[in-house]
Amino acid sequence: MKREIRTAVFPVAGRGTRFLPATKASPKEMLPVVDKPLIQYAVEEALAAGAERLVFITGASKRAIEDHFDSDQELEKLLEAQGKSDLLRQVRSVLPSYATCIYIRQSAPLGLGHAVLCAEAAVGQEPFFVHLADDLIDAREPCLKQMAATYAFHRGSVLGVEDVPRRDTEKYGIVECESPRLPVSRIRSIVEKPKPAVAPSTLAVVGRYVLTPAIFDYLRQIGRGAGGEIQLTDGIARLLGSEAVYAHRFEGKRFDCGSKLGYLQATVEHALAHPELKSAFRAYLLKLAKDLGKAPARRAKAPARRGK
Ligand code: G1P
Repeated sequence: MKREIRTAVFPVAGRGTRFLPATKASPKEMLPVVDKPLIQYAVEEALAAGAERLVFITGASKRAIEDHFDSDQELEKLLEAQGKSDLLRQVRSVLPSYATCIYIRQSAPLGLGHAVLCAEAAVGQEPFFVHLADDLIDAREPCLKQMAATYAFHRGSVLGVEDVPRRDTEKYGIVECESPRLPVSRIRSIVEKPKPAVAPSTLAVVGRYVLTPAIFDYLRQIGRGAGGEIQLTDGIARLLGSEAVYAHRFEGKRFDCGSKLGYLQATVEHALAHPELKSAFRAYLLKLAKDLGKAPARRAKAPARRGK
């Protein structure tokens, strides 16, 4: 079968400062949700959507990602000798044999648009996925697969979107659509992290994109935008002038694993769905909730006062 979208780009160069010190020496994309790192959820979603060439845009302290997707003969031998066939199967299935990994170093943290531009030579003149591993999406049909179907129908770039509270528009790229209520609608305009008062809508871009290769020309042209970075959103704003770009309200539940609260929510909900853990974890949570209901709310300790 000829795969229409063969390449997925994973920008993983960010330092994950919100999770320091956990992310001082290891990548935020390696934070586990129960027993799988975020980047593995990302790769599984891209593979399910038909990708076979995986391009990681990496930076300092990201070696663990390469190690994770490499085979580990020593570990496999050990598990084999111990007869741990289930774990052996899990370790071996981290990456199917047809998939190829390409690692490209982003020389400086110049923004998401710059990271995507770094993938140009690996992508070539084909449509491609961009996946931000911070946004973990649970869905019956993987989110990128839903979006690949939209690309196949409309033959234009597709952005995964969802409604957010107006106070949160400053955290996202925000789109204005022709028919905002429809599941798929052509985008009229897009702006990066607008203040709530001036945001054109509350429809936010989450970390899922199908992009046509025309985006690379625009990413080369744009300068630094919001936050002094080369923004993917600004490249897409230019792309809108020459091609139709679509917003796709995906079906599924998103967890913002770039924030501690979202990460904890993802962990709890995945544990509640985990075949080995779910009943014991549910019993634990119910007991905890009962105890919390009884206990008086704890006051935060006042910080110790320092002398002058
Ligand atoms: C990036 C994009 C933004 C998008 C968001 C989704 O922002 O620049 O347009 O809405 O991802 O998670 P970041 O979260 O890297 O600041």
